[in-house]
Amino acid sequence: MNNPNTLKFNIHPTNIGAIIMICRRNFQVILLFAFTTQLCISNLYAAYRAPVWSENGMAATPHIAATAAAVEVLEAGGNAVDAVVAASFALAVVEQYHSGLGGGEFTLLRMVKDAKVRVLDARESTPLKSSADMFMNPETDEPYKEKYWLGGLAVGVPGSVAGKVELIAKYGNLPLKEVIAPAYKLAKNGFKLDRVYASSIKRNSDEFAEDTDLAKVFMSKGLPLKRGQVLRQPILANTLQKIGKDKGKSFYHGEMAKNISDACIAHGGIIEQKDMANYKLRWMEPISFNYHGYDIHSMPPPSSGGVCLAMILNILDEFPLEYLGQGSTETYHLIASAFELAFADRSHWLGDPDYADLPVKELISQDYADKLRKKIDRFSRIPVDGPGNPRLKKPASNTSHISVIDKDGNMCAMTTSVNSSFGSKVFVPELGIFLNNTMVDFSIAPDQPDYFGLIGGNVNRIQPGKRPLSSMSPTLVTYQGKPLIALGSVGGPRIITSVCQILINMIDYSNNIQAAVDAPRIHMQWKPDLLYIESEVAPEIVERLNSMGWIMRQQPLWSLSQAVYKDSLNHYFHGASDARGVGSAGPAGDR
Ligand code: DON
Repeated sequence: MNNPNTLKFNIHPTNIGAIIMICRRNFQVILLFAFTTQLCISNLYAAYRAPVWSENGMAATPHIAATAAAVEVLEAGGNAVDAVVAASFALAVVEQYHSGLGGGEFTLLRMVKDAKVRVLDARESTPLKSSADMFMNPETDEPYKEKYWLGGLAVGVPGSVAGKVELIAKYGNLPLKEVIAPAYKLAKNGFKLDRVYASSIKRNSDEFAEDTDLAKVFMSKGLPLKRGQVLRQPILANTLQKIGKDKGKSFYHGEMAKNISDACIAHGGIIEQKDMANYKLRWMEPISFNYHGYDIHSMPPPSSGGVCLAMILNILDEFPLEYLGQGSTETYHLIASAFELAFADRSHWLGDPDYADLPVKELISQDYADKLRKKIDRFSRIPVDGPGNPRLKKPASNTSHISVIDKDGNMCAMTTSVNSSFGSKVFVPELGIFLNNTMVDFSIAPDQPDYFGLIGGNVNRIQPGKRPLSSMSPTLVTYQGKPLIALGSVGGPRIITSVCQILINMIDYSNNIQAAVDAPRIHMQWKPDLLYIESEVAPEIVERLNSMGWIMRQQPLWSLSQAVYKDSLNHYFHGASDARGVGSAGPAGDR
């Protein structure tokens, strides 16, 4: 990024809507137009949308109704925190398959008043009756795969409601009721189903048809609700209204806690009312580091996000990415190599910091990055055989993301999740909510890949009251003390690699925020031994990476990012919702 305070636009001259529409449908046609360089191909893809701009603050969320909720609250005098929480309540209504009141979340915020970056951990924790081997079949010594991610046992104690209430109490400008109001209206009056929600209902329609409570909400005349039909959730509206009134008291200590525990136990789970009452939020310090002059702040353990981002960018820091070019074979090779090294260490060293002494400082140190960088050969891939040892010298970690910067420069980024589609699929009929299946983020046995194919160490085994290791990485970037970027992503381990590539696209390649978000991405997580690469990348680059030693898998990558940028010099805000999804960025106020 040449001048970070005024972003240089980097849209390729062939940015003609019609051509690009054709290009997206037919990759062969891309090659016809993208005859100059590899960079041209990325830019063609990236130039599909321009960023949304405003002078009065900006929100980017994965759903247009959630963006509208954030904007409504900003225009009513709310700040970035109010807007993020309003959007997350709205997503609990319009995207319940990704995030909701039965899930958990991480939030980073920075208020201009004291310029301190704060982190709230509202992730699910394990119930007291949980144990390291709860997902293992003692007879076969194999995991009970199904129970691990479906049904009551997969549910962690939800932190999302406690988190949102706390955020508003400590940092909001508006009363909780006002922040919940847009979500309440969406639940009560209903909203039209988009293609993503409609197809999620269709995929689950057999299960929904068997359960009268679910069938009442998601089916009509025996058929799943379709795109364009209105989904009304009066019970969920009632739950939201109660939370607005009692600030989550009943959810953790009253009737709602009993409803949640009853639903869990009825589906084979172990969450009791006392687990709900014992749920604790944690305020934490961010992982902060500098990359090419930019101060990057991200999520500490129990997320692996901040640690991995710092490790990857520290390793890449000494490579001339700008010179090598965006989307070039060598750039992809170096980025993938840094991903592989960081994910190998993630698997061994990271977990809940309250249960083990994690070598975080060592992992994110420059010394350790220097050591890891030496393992990379610029021209061929050297497979990583295992985690490194940052302690050698000195003994001493289906989702929604929301990013907002308000007109005053307050920043807030929240990643909120029920984990996979509709979480554990355990529905609490009295509350109209689904419960998460975040227990899948624990490692259930040594060398046993988790739901996302990640390997976890002993440090991430189940223990009562513990939080599972996450990849969620809400991230804030400041430049010379000024707010610059709020961003984050969804997609399990792809969150880390997506956030990382967006930062590189903006900082090293001066992409505008939408181009940075939309540019083709790669993903590598050490195990499985595969370098995933999005379908838009040219076949000759894939071939060259393959000949360098990478085992390639080309496919559309499922990770969606939401980012907001503040141009402090010209006082403009730019917003980008990932073109891979159906979200939107929304400007606050008149433009
Ligand atoms: O915390 C984590 O890393 C996962 N539970 C996030 C899940 C996710 O992003 C699913 N999205 N596709």
